[in-house]
Amino acid sequence: MICLPTERPAPKMAVSVRQNEKQILKNIVIAIDGTSASGKSTNAKLVARALGYVYVDTGAMYRTLAWYCLKKRVDVTEEKAVATTCRHWKTKLICVENNGLRAVRLLVDDYFPETEIRTPETAAAVAMVAAVPKVREWMKKTQRDCIQFGNLVMEGRDIGTNVFPETDYKFYLDAKLEERSARRAADGVNENLAARDQRDSQRKAAPLMIALGAKVIDNSKLTSEQTSGLLLAEIHKRMAAVI
Ligand code: DC
Repeated sequence: MICLPTERPAPKMAVSVRQNEKQILKNIVIAIDGTSASGKSTNAKLVARALGYVYVDTGAMYRTLAWYCLKKRVDVTEEKAVATTCRHWKTKLICVENNGLRAVRLLVDDYFPETEIRTPETAAAVAMVAAVPKVREWMKKTQRDCIQFGNLVMEGRDIGTNVFPETDYKFYLDAKLEERSARRAADGVNENLAARDQRDSQRKAAPLMIALGAKVIDNSKLTSEQTSGLLLAEIHKRMAAVI
């Protein structure tokens, strides 16, 4: 049996926002970053519904590329091959409405691989794909293009630090490793979150960090209603300060 470390290194704090990136956004972007299983998806959706904003799951975009590489038999350990695949794949961004939630989808060859991107095979490949700098460049541009659909709630690992560093609404969600592992297990997923945390926070390209000015929320002991309540209260406070 492999023993996992129960504590991980504290995430680094981003030190600055590049001045040339400090531009005026044409719509509001709520950036929700954080560790795996820290409740980003659930809370980002609750916030998007409450505000009537468009939800964007950027992890799904990385997963879509990982799935596509596996389908095309591209070796995901080969950085160049992954970068070439990303340069040539035929994609499209669309906005769909489901049960009152508007969400962005990245289609490849006009197809959204909704179930395929959640398989263990895709999950095992995605961190390698996400570590490729050319892939991250492509993702950043594509994710910034989502602003065409309106005000956004975008969740990921580098939204406040890298994709939309100019937004005033940055959050970093976290919870204790045991709590996050229990949440994944309750969803029927047995995942080595300690290893995933380490890969996400130690990769060279856009590692997981707390963005400057981000509100950090540890929700180990909070329900999603309480967490999204805190997020919404802080968003309203910051909105009042911006006006
Ligand atoms: O949130 P998720 O588990 O669906 O993310 C899948 C992978 O993509 C995970 O390894 C982290 C990576 N990712 C990233 O590097 N940057 C993002 N903005 C979103 C996800």
